[in-house]
Amino acid sequence: MSAEAHAAGPSPALADVLVVASAAWARLRSGQSLERALESALREQSPPGQHGDGRLSGAVRDVAASAVRRCAMLEYLLGELVHRPPDPAVAALLAVSLAQLLARSYTEFTLVDQAVRAARARPLTAGAAAMVNAVLREFLRRRDALETQASSDPARRFNVPPWWLARLQDEYGARATAVLTAQLEEPPLVLRVNCRRATPAQTLAELRAAGIDASPVGASALWLHRATAVERIPGFAAGMVSVQDAGAQLAAPWLSAGTGMRVLDACAAPGGKTAHLLEIADCRVDAVEMDPQRAVLIESNLRRLGLAGERARVLVGDILRPRSFWEGVPYDRILLDAPCSASGVVRRHPDVPWLRRPSDVANLATRQAKMLHTLWPLLAPAGRLLYVVCSVFAEEGRRQIATFVRRQPAARVLRLPHGGPTGLQLLPTSIADVATEPGDGAVPVLHDGFFYALLEKI
Ligand SMILES: C[S@@+](CC[C@H](N)C(=O)[O-])C[C@H]1O[C@@H](n2cnc3c(N)ncnc32)[C@H](O)[C@@H]1O
Repeated sequence: MSAEAHAAGPSPALADVLVVASAAWARLRSGQSLERALESALREQSPPGQHGDGRLSGAVRDVAASAVRRCAMLEYLLGELVHRPPDPAVAALLAVSLAQLLARSYTEFTLVDQAVRAARARPLTAGAAAMVNAVLREFLRRRDALETQASSDPARRFNVPPWWLARLQDEYGARATAVLTAQLEEPPLVLRVNCRRATPAQTLAELRAAGIDASPVGASALWLHRATAVERIPGFAAGMVSVQDAGAQLAAPWLSAGTGMRVLDACAAPGGKTAHLLEIADCRVDAVEMDPQRAVLIESNLRRLGLAGERARVLVGDILRPRSFWEGVPYDRILLDAPCSASGVVRRHPDVPWLRRPSDVANLATRQAKMLHTLWPLLAPAGRLLYVVCSVFAEEGRRQIATFVRRQPAARVLRLPHGGPTGLQLLPTSIADVATEPGDGAVPVLHDGFFYALLEKI
């Protein structure tokens, strides 16, 4: 259950939750991200007086996310149980209801009863209430056989489209299973300790004193064993900690910005890495972000952490057009956290494989290459550029950098801990392995999938 769902107020009716979640599901299946789909569905379908109610939005988020985590299975079940393709609104209500039956979150009777009420509540689905009842009951009768049959297909078991599975298997062979298994987990909640305000040991002690179980998973990274609303984390409002995956916490230290250095954080919102850079070094950062609304998030994060001030400039601009933000003085360090397939963060964004098409990876790689070539002239001689993507696909990582250094003779790749000649590919690790993995301090023990390459201008 999400943190929001624990907010004060009466519990929303399950039928209302199913109505809103099914509207979000329909939007998601027509190409919208889960976040956007939830926003629109809550705005348009919340019962009167309940828009903005944390309990409703938390419950809707849980139901919709639970369906996304079973997307492949739901497609299969709908194909088996519904003989003529239903109206999208009916298919969506069936999908979110089947997901709840699969998750066994409610008794079967309650779920079927509330799904039928949800169908009756909207003109688009009212005529299909009997059909919703019949399909859900048929699923319950055939449940074991259907689940066994569905799970025999690995793409369904790992909840990814077949092309995504094939790509991972091509690139990683037997290791693909570990990546896919880790990405089925609930995302771990990891904090970064603001070293200007606390130490990891002090923070750990405060968390434990507040009854929050946590353990270190990286130099400044603390893993909270149970998801907790940020407002309930001691020191969050006071800027002692931020939420950031331990793999993302490698960027700022690896950039090794020194006192007084000029740093460009290209693609900066919401500012997680900008803040980390300012926490660990007395450098000056230009944080450039194309989306003005997201740029505001950088400002508010820096304020919360006590880092807003003359060392940080938040600039709305397009890094593919340097004139939109650059005054002509070269940077000593550049961080390029480029837009990517997000194939390394699927457990945080389980909608990602369902929103991408196979051709997207090549298109994103082309854009990343343009960004690299555009930013390279902005780097001072002997300066360093750290390229990061939260991807596990080589086209955006290892192969991208191999091509870049072939075309830029003044670029050389500096070796990162555990890295290869073109950078370091971190594959997502599983929560189940944290207890057994020793970790050597160079890379954290629990992290999402990232690719890192550190380039130096000769
Ligand atoms: C991976 S996110 C960055 C995350 C951020 N570095 C952090 O650690 O919090 C990529 C960001 O790049 C922005 N972006 C995409 N294309 C851009 C461009 N051409 N110029 C500037 N920002 C861009 C997106 O709006 C998005 O906010």
